Amino acid sequence: MTKLQRFGVSVETDLLDKFDEFIREQNYQNRSEALRDLMREALVRKQWKEDETIAGAIAFVYDHHHGQLVNHLMELQHDYFTIIISSQHVHLDHDNCMEIILAKGPANQVGKLYESIRAMKGVKHIDLLRSTTGQQL
Ligand code: NI
Repeated sequence: MTKLQRFGVSVETDLLDKFDEFIREQNYQNRSEALRDLMREALVRKQWKEDETIAGAIAFVYDHHHGQLVNHLMELQHDYFTIIISSQHVHLDHDNCMEIILAKGPANQVGKLYESIRAMKGVKHIDLLRSTTGQQL
């Protein structure tokens, strides 16, 4: 367990009121836990910005009948085999598929994989979850 350290923060009353309202809405038990999460979120954003080793998930929905899309997706995932940890494919209905790719590696590479899938015709929706390996946090 990492050692805890207390520190004082000066903040405008209005801002603190808004923050307290926010953490109540988010079901936090106290300011400390909410602040810790915000600090970690900022550090994870920095990890992505500075191309550190991160973990992330790319979720997308597409029509598998669309041209060569399935083959292109397969080729692309082989190109990125060094950073793809796993992928899951679900048949949503007769036409639509959902896939989730979990990746761990340099942030820029995961970002490029995401952008390449996003640009493919037939991909109806895509989102990237920018997370972390959990190390150094
Ligand atoms: Ni399918």
